[in-house]
Amino acid sequence: MKRIPPPPEIISGKCTGCGLCVKYCPALVLGMQNKIAAVERREFCVACGHCGAVCPTEAIFHPEAKVESHLTTGPGPAVNPEAVLKLLRERRSVRFYRPEPVPREVLEKIIEAGRYAPTGSNSQNVHYLVFTDPREIVKLREITVSGMEKAFGMMSNPIVAFYAGFILGRKTVKFLQDYIPAAKSVIESTKSGVDRAFWNARAVILVHAPAWDSSSAFNCVAAINYCALMAHSLGVGVCFNGFIENSAKYDPKLKKFLGLPKDHRCFGVMTLGYQEVKFRRLVERRRPSIEWR
Ligand SMILES: Cc1cc2nc3c(=O)[nH]c(=O)nc-3n(C[C@H](O)[C@H](O)[C@H](O)COP(=O)(O)O)c2cc1C
Repeated sequence: MKRIPPPPEIISGKCTGCGLCVKYCPALVLGMQNKIAAVERREFCVACGHCGAVCPTEAIFHPEAKVESHLTTGPGPAVNPEAVLKLLRERRSVRFYRPEPVPREVLEKIIEAGRYAPTGSNSQNVHYLVFTDPREIVKLREITVSGMEKAFGMMSNPIVAFYAGFILGRKTVKFLQDYIPAAKSVIESTKSGVDRAFWNARAVILVHAPAWDSSSAFNCVAAINYCALMAHSLGVGVCFNGFIENSAKYDPKLKKFLGLPKDHRCFGVMTLGYQEVKFRRLVERRRPSIEWR
């Protein structure tokens, strides 16, 4: 199941034998032979491109991880810490959208950001399912909301909840039960025409990846977060959506509608649209819980 990418190529006339690529290759692909770099364990390569990125003489070519000049004039980083923190704090869940759709080129730019998120073993295994057709979004909402209604209805039944505890764990069942009143109000409101489930999304993006890969959950979450930040910088508001994500994991009807590959699982969803009213202020968060050792 592990995909083996093509190995890097060493351009021998350019290699000075400094050994930086050997040191920086995280997968032990490279070694020194006759005082120049050589590919010794090609089957370990994950195409991360660190070898080519550190080489001072452009002596490494990787067909999948081609290097470019650094985007900034200096050695980077591209933005200062204050700007990063401001961007992170500016990103908020945007739930009220203007009527106009988000153009496909803009959605493509948003997804382009996800491409550069880290993935375990550089698998780059994140897939995107994008809904932009309003009729499809309505169908997605109807199926999700009716699945939610059923699932929370079941959790209200003490016998079902008792047995669900063996599968999901007692604490998760309690967590879901505590959420029943809020979920019911979301369902009722949405059914009566005030969409508190999807917030009248102009687009919906789901990220999915192979369920058997233990890094998939992280990969998808990292990628969708990158997308969310790019969306913000493009003036597009996004809101992560746990209702769709959880229904996509467990509701057979929704699974069928989505048609993801059989061995894939949805690990993140966001609704998108142009923000109706801009936030005027940044807000505080609790202090982080940190243990220093
Ligand atoms: C995994 C996850 C699921 C979420 N699901 C929903 C959702 O279904 N509906 C919603 O309105 N907001 C949802 N949110 C948004 C959170 O409520 C929001 O991130 C949180 O209140 C903090 O607000 P902020 O994103 O504006 O900083 C979700 C967020 C995360 C991370």
